[in-house]
Amino acid sequence: MAKTIFKSFPEAELERRRNVSFSFSYDEIKVPETLKEYAKGKKYFIHTYGCQANYRDEEIMAGLLEKAGFCRGNSENNSDVVILNTCAVRENAEQKVFGKIGDLKAFKAENKNRVVAVCGCMVQQKHVIEHINKTYLHVDLIFGTHNIVELLDLLNEVILKKLRVVDVKSLPGDIHENLPSVRQSNFKAFVNISYGCDKFCTYCIVPYTRGKERSRKMKDILDECRELKELGYKEVTLLGQNVNAYGKDLKDGSSFALLLDEVAKLGIPRVRFLTSHPWDFSSEMIDVIAKHDNIMKYIHLPVQSGNDEILKLMGRRYTSEKYLNLVKEIKEKIPNVALSTDIIVGFPNETYEQFLDTLKIVKEVKYWSAFTFIYSPRKNTPAAKIVDNVTPKEKNQRFQELVNTLAEVIEPINKTLVGKTFPVLVESISEKNKEMLSGYTEHNKLVHFKGDPKLIGQIINIRITESHLYFLNGEIVSE
Ligand code: SAH
Ligand code: SF4
Ligand code: F3S
Repeated sequence: MAKTIFKSFPEAELERRRNVSFSFSYDEIKVPETLKEYAKGKKYFIHTYGCQANYRDEEIMAGLLEKAGFCRGNSENNSDVVILNTCAVRENAEQKVFGKIGDLKAFKAENKNRVVAVCGCMVQQKHVIEHINKTYLHVDLIFGTHNIVELLDLLNEVILKKLRVVDVKSLPGDIHENLPSVRQSNFKAFVNISYGCDKFCTYCIVPYTRGKERSRKMKDILDECRELKELGYKEVTLLGQNVNAYGKDLKDGSSFALLLDEVAKLGIPRVRFLTSHPWDFSSEMIDVIAKHDNIMKYIHLPVQSGNDEILKLMGRRYTSEKYLNLVKEIKEKIPNVALSTDIIVGFPNETYEQFLDTLKIVKEVKYWSAFTFIYSPRKNTPAAKIVDNVTPKEKNQRFQELVNTLAEVIEPINKTLVGKTFPVLVESISEKNKEMLSGYTEHNKLVHFKGDPKLIGQIINIRITESHLYFLNGEIVSE
């Protein structure tokens, strides 16, 4: 059995700390010579779970691995290095990953020279590492969200010294610019504008797993977006756990409104952003969104709950009234806007009456879509310490009621789209029907239509012919 080297280990107490300083690094990543030698003819495969932050991390890891000389495998089975890029936001996300780690035991047993690595948000939790170390000894490398830049050095140690390595830092290091990356699409791209989160909603693990909120410099973001525009990208999504807070930490006058304005001016056909917290949403931001045709009139504005007591317990820093006032201002200034949201049901001790306030706000805002979750206690978060008197059965019933109410709101909206024509960014061949293509409207509605796969990556006009709850059907409008 390989010896385990513990280089660093995450501590929730440290992860909570916010008085940490960092700087910007533009250094080139060096590839260890021995790894270059090993990588010849070798393949890697990355399984990514969770949100767009992980999606983008996968692209960076792919960039690093390809710089070392690895090629992307088309499945784990024909690969030599497999990485699980994990998410910790809810219990069921973690269960999926543990299942996958278990499956990889046979993969490793087939060939001992293969490398199994686990990274991402899950391993930023001490108890998860302890569990892996006890149960899944075929995992060779565990590295955290703040250790991605060290991936090549860590792999080098695992491969050459035949060690098991655990390196999960509690605190973020510098912001690394100019990291190599291999983008997963050649027409839509995600661009990080900030890392981490300082909101500390009481139920949420992200501020621990991703660390302090850190903004990239505006110039670096704009350079990246300019390059994407020159490469012909049709859509850029600016990414942050809370994009509205962008720039506050830089203390150089940068703000999200300013950044969004500058990105829109570059002339990329579609500009999107994720996610906006209702608390920091400024009037300037609304004005900038309204001003530019290429900023998609689609805003994801997580409400979480419609009840003020629950919102307070969640630490969300707004009341339902404040949220509704923001929605009013957005709708007034951007008449053709589509709003979507995230909702949690069954927060500890939520009463049925409090839950009804959530249904009320759903009906009032008339969301175009929503992600709905049953509350999942996350170790070390404040909410996980509350003794909860709501039974799983009640939570499931509320969840179902919420889904039904959302359907009542969304179906009529979708019906109004029938007969109208929208530009659609064609993304792929439809998963259900190989003769159909799929794409998204400005308002993030999924549309299926017949067409030539050559259209993938283009924005074309589609007339909507049929509406369903989760998708629309349409046809290409000939010029
Ligand atoms: N930073 C983003 C996304 C965070 S995670 C934001 O604040 O909007 C995405 C969603 O997962 C959250 O909006 C929330 O609805 C949900 N979520 C987070 N922690 C959760 C938990 N412990 N249980 C259930 N849902 C959770
Ligand atoms: Fe989690 Fe709240 Fe931060 Fe979103 S804003 S990542 S829900 S702590
Ligand atoms: Fe999951 Fe981490 Fe994203 S917990 S939602 S992958 S920031």
